[in-house]
Amino acid sequence: MLAVAVIGGMLKPEYFMLASLLALRAARCYLCPLSTSKSWLSTKASPLGDTNILLMGPPGAGKTTVAKIVAHKLGIPVIDIDIDVLETTWKMPVAAKLATVGGQRFLEEEGQALCGFSASGCVVSLTGSNPLHTEAMQHVTQSGLVIYLDVDSDDIIQRLDRMKVNRIVGQAAGVSIRDILLYRKQFYEKWLDLRVFCGRGDTVEEVVEKVLLAVERYQKRDEETYVSTRCDGAELDGHKTYFTNVVVEGLAADGGLYVPKKGFPKISKKEWLRLVSMTYPERALVLLEKCIHPLDISASDLRTMILKAYGSNFSSERVAPVKHLIHNQYVLELFHGPTASFKDLALQLMPQIFAHCLPPLCNFLTLVATSGDTGSAVLSGFCQLTGADRHRTGVLVFFPEDGVSEIQKLQMMSHKAGNAKVVGVLSDFDFCQKAIKRMFGESGLTGSLAVEYGTVLSTANSINCMGSVVYHASAYLDLCRDGVIGFGEPVDVCIPAGNFGNSMSAVYAKQMGVPIRRVISASNHNRIISDFLTTGEYDLRGRPLLPSHSPAIDILRSSNLERFIHHVSDGSSRLVKELFTFLDTQKHFQLPKHLLGRMRQEVQAGWCSEGDCLAAIHDVCTQTGYLMDTHTAVAKVVADRLLDGSCPMVLCSTAHYGKFAPAVFKALQIRDIPQDPVEQLKKLEISASRPGVHAEMEKCLRDGGRRGHSVCQADYSVLVEEVESMIQDSFLKVV
Ligand SMILES: *Cc1c(COP(=O)(O)O)cnc(C)c1O
Ligand SMILES: *[C@@H]1O[C@H](CO)[C@@H](O)[C@H](O)[C@H]1NC(C)=O
Repeated sequence: MLAVAVIGGMLKPEYFMLASLLALRAARCYLCPLSTSKSWLSTKASPLGDTNILLMGPPGAGKTTVAKIVAHKLGIPVIDIDIDVLETTWKMPVAAKLATVGGQRFLEEEGQALCGFSASGCVVSLTGSNPLHTEAMQHVTQSGLVIYLDVDSDDIIQRLDRMKVNRIVGQAAGVSIRDILLYRKQFYEKWLDLRVFCGRGDTVEEVVEKVLLAVERYQKRDEETYVSTRCDGAELDGHKTYFTNVVVEGLAADGGLYVPKKGFPKISKKEWLRLVSMTYPERALVLLEKCIHPLDISASDLRTMILKAYGSNFSSERVAPVKHLIHNQYVLELFHGPTASFKDLALQLMPQIFAHCLPPLCNFLTLVATSGDTGSAVLSGFCQLTGADRHRTGVLVFFPEDGVSEIQKLQMMSHKAGNAKVVGVLSDFDFCQKAIKRMFGESGLTGSLAVEYGTVLSTANSINCMGSVVYHASAYLDLCRDGVIGFGEPVDVCIPAGNFGNSMSAVYAKQMGVPIRRVISASNHNRIISDFLTTGEYDLRGRPLLPSHSPAIDILRSSNLERFIHHVSDGSSRLVKELFTFLDTQKHFQLPKHLLGRMRQEVQAGWCSEGDCLAAIHDVCTQTGYLMDTHTAVAKVVADRLLDGSCPMVLCSTAHYGKFAPAVFKALQIRDIPQDPVEQLKKLEISASRPGVHAEMEKCLRDGGRRGHSVCQADYSVLVEEVESMIQDSFLKVV
């Protein structure tokens, strides 16, 4: 059971630990008392007490050898299922048994033997085929932590070759070893607690080291906590914020943004090399497992979510493909998701993670401020939820009534999900974002919603970075796979920046070990980020928000800069708090001199005029047949200006051109523009040879129709009323 306490007006799940690891895993909401975890760790003999360490993986993965060394290092017994269980039960060698009874019968008898097995406090190496037997695995996984030795197939095949093994259990005639390894993988990924991701050619010693580190990581969930950019851990009286809390809360109560306390994990070159040949969902799974502690989301749950998010809802099978544009410039196409902007990459996954982390018995209303694209992407993501998850979550979107394109509006209106509402505000994006932040800060408001309606407010803006790290890594890996670069060679990345989330993700990808040389942040004529990175002064004074052809980056209060300053100041929350409090009252701040240099080492910046943006769309289309959207064009112009030709440049294409059709018509100097948005898309499609039409967007415009939306004044109290009435309409009142 999960205890829910009202702390400062917000519901916070409090975790405490049960004595046994197994109960931990069995219960969906594990509870971890921080006080006992230390004593639990100090058991000298085995780090896991009575719990076994079960090594699982294909033949040739090194289970037996690794198990022996791990057991030796921990000073605990080792059991080999093949030798110590099967051969003693059957009184004959395993190979003889297999030859006698045949594959199918062998699997069954092997499973039955495992069902009778019991041990505690040991390292156990399972057989390669054990995971194919459900009942046996249900039995044995009760006794310990299952560690999957995920070894590269080429390495396995070489080893089996050396061991003169040419067939493995369950391999029918005509099926290659590679195919059977692929088939087996789904079983290993079903049963694992922890993955030990082995690099190409890792030695036994390296694998042993990784197993020990994995066990240690599993136990030390306390070390993977999050802090607010405005508050260091010390001030929190030992209260720890886990990934789960961050997902549910969204924004920190002190107004800051959450960041992982230890930063993002560094991944070794040998591991990156293995990721080169993997698909997008496979890469996402390995990378996110490293970022999310298994006690927050288990590896097998994470896998289900990732397959749902990236399995079939993207029109490109490669999810985020990289295409050659011209010379050594490449386009990272981030618009193949259901709503045609890069927001889908994060937001097809986020609602599933959110639903998974929600404590029971509460309703959740996600508040979204959008400059156009986040709104539809959040709505689309939440629409994928089913059953109870769908009933107890709602989405309320505020957007600037006159600041988004007609197509963006239609996309937002087209969602017929249960608890969803969109409201146009007669102001700009910054107003909407600030109003939401203010609601979070008012404990009177959040408290009364919690008490009266059992409803907690959340935002969609907080952990999106994590999903975005994956595509920056994936783009680099694609360039390696296609032979454009070798791993380790530099690339530059140019990103149209508004709230700076996408740019920040590239900085985090760099931290994880992706060899990105320069992250370049591109602004339109609302160039506050570009000015800030140039001068170190963030200055809102006398700077009105100018309308532009790239409305998704018409932002002056760029919220993720807070994460960036936290990053370059090595986590100085005091500085961040000082600067942003000063910004609230004085409308500007100056970054200390020594940090300006560090900031520019990480990210460089430039900006693009309206005229240059349209000219770039026109020129690139004429030269290459490729049609860019206006945001991509902003990146292209800035990239051209900073190009030094010494390495490839990846342009982040954050939207499909169809989303901003009127501006693109203008750029192409096409005059008679059809009224109907669907006709507009059709006309643009024949003006360029690539990329192709966005079928999902077209479908949405076709049957979206015009559902009404309400429009409200730029008045904070009116927005609060919208929140309250939405909650009253969506969720039952708690009596
Ligand atoms: C949201 C958005 C951006 C800006 O991304 P940030 O992470 O806010 O910097 C750029 N282009 C498009 C099309 C967007 O929707
Ligand atoms: C996403 O995929 C699921 C099934 O895989 C499907 O039911 C859903 O309609 C898709 N959504 C969109 C927006 O494409």
